[in-house]
Amino acid sequence: MLAASITQPLVVFLLAAVHRFLSFTATRESAFVHAIASAGVAFAVTRSCAEGSATICGCDTRHKGSPGEGWKWGGCSEDVEFGSMVSREFADARENRPDARSAMNRHNNEAGRTSIIELMHLKCKCHGLSGSCEVKTCWWSQPDFRVIGDYLKDKYDSASEMVVEKHRESRGWVETLRPKYNFFKAPTEKDLVYYENSPNFCEPNPETGSFGTRDRICNVTSHGIDGCDLLCCGRGHNTRTEKRKEKCHCIFHWCCYVRCQECIRVYDVHTCK
Ligand SMILES: *[C@@H]1O[C@H](CO)[C@@H](O)[C@H](O)[C@H]1NC(C)=O
Repeated sequence: MLAASITQPLVVFLLAAVHRFLSFTATRESAFVHAIASAGVAFAVTRSCAEGSATICGCDTRHKGSPGEGWKWGGCSEDVEFGSMVSREFADARENRPDARSAMNRHNNEAGRTSIIELMHLKCKCHGLSGSCEVKTCWWSQPDFRVIGDYLKDKYDSASEMVVEKHRESRGWVETLRPKYNFFKAPTEKDLVYYENSPNFCEPNPETGSFGTRDRICNVTSHGIDGCDLLCCGRGHNTRTEKRKEKCHCIFHWCCYVRCQECIRVYDVHTCK
């Protein structure tokens, strides 16, 4: 559903939020937000070009690769390079300082845009008598935005910690990043990078944009990050019961309607103290 709801105003808002809360941190979370926001701009621009809602762009006619056996190029291939170019102009505009923060943001913005290119896939359509698929036409399509989100979440989990290095250059001092640990694989352009440890998100802190975890719903049987132990940061949790009306005992009547009863189900809801 996110794909449909990602619009340019939303992305502009997202970027503003990014700058407000995360520009001054160089954490893993900041890396993720920069990557997904710049991917969001590229994605939205690319999609509106393909839908014909922008006049300066359209479909990608430079088809990559030759058609395979039994199909030919057709339809509208989405021009992700144009979308990425707009994103680069827009999301990277403020990231031109010679400092480490800018270098990190530029890297993660680019990783976000690259993720779309990585996940582009062929979509095909059959033509012919009643689905005989005599002729098949194919075009390049962006993935669902959800898929990009999942991909970047993996990149967040495996993000590379860097250290800042200062160099004296003709234009003055320039900061660059190098991997902190050389026994790990060095990050590629597809990987996210950061150089500050994450703050503690347990307590509310406007400076880091943390809302804290008080009153968050947690899962009492999970040992993962959504489990009450971890999510509540050891503060424990409250349990309340909630009654929800649900449709039940549904019976199909000939012909054609379904009649249900309403049942009250009781759920335990756990929230962090
Ligand atoms: C809670 O966690 C358990 C174990 O991970 C899982 O099977 C269950 O579906 C979760 N419940 C909810 C409501 O997410």
